[in-house]
Amino acid sequence: MALVPHVFLTAEQIQKRVRAMGEQISADYPEGPIYLIAVLKGAFIFMADLSRAIKTPSRIEFMGISSYGKDKTSSGQVKVTKDLDVSIENHHVLVVEDIIDSGVTLTYLINLLQQRHPKSIRVATLLDKPDRRLRPVEVSYTGFKIPDEFVVGYGLDFAEDYRNLGDICVLAEEQIPVGHSTPAIS
Ligand code: IMP
Ligand code: MG
Repeated sequence: MALVPHVFLTAEQIQKRVRAMGEQISADYPEGPIYLIAVLKGAFIFMADLSRAIKTPSRIEFMGISSYGKDKTSSGQVKVTKDLDVSIENHHVLVVEDIIDSGVTLTYLINLLQQRHPKSIRVATLLDKPDRRLRPVEVSYTGFKIPDEFVVGYGLDFAEDYRNLGDICVLAEEQIPVGHSTPAIS
C-alpha cells in the first residue's frame, strides 16, 4: 500500500477564494497596519498569497508553535518555539492559519496574544474541519470548510512531505500495480 495524493481543491480554486478573502479583509480594515501573524510552517504559502490580496497596509510576522504528547493535536500541551520579534500592543492582529482541526493550537495562541493587549484580534484560516473541534474558536475568515480528511499541499504536510504541491490533496491508501512507477511514498 502507498499513500497517493488526490486533488481535492485545485490551485485555481484556492487562488480565487484567497483573493476574495483578501478583498473582504481589506474592506473590514480600512486602516492599517494589520499585523498578519502566520503559524509556521503550514501557513507560509497561504500567508504569501493572502498578504498580497490585502490592500490595507500590513506587516508580516511569524510564530512557531509545537504540540507535545502522543496525540499531537489534542494533547493540550502547546509550546512557543519561535516568538514574535515585535510588540503587538495597540495594533490590529490577524492570525493566519492553514487549517483548524481540534482548535487546541489556536486557543493557546489567542490566549497568549490577548495578554499582549492588541487593539483587536481575529483569525483567518484557509481550511476548517469543524467536525474535529475540541475547543470552540471564533474564526472571522474561512476559506473552505472541509470534511474530516487528512489533506496536504499548499503548505500543509504529512511528515514534512507535500508542502510544495500547488493543489490541496487528500492522501489515500492505494495498491500500486507491480512495475508501475509512482511519485507516492509507501
Ligand atoms: P489543532 O490544534 O488540532 O487545531 O491543530 C491544527 C494543526 O494541525 C494545523 O495547523 C496543522 O499543522 C495540523 N493539521 C491538522 N489537520 C491537518 C491536515 O489535514 N493536514 C495537515 N496538517 C493538519
Ligand atoms: Mg499549522
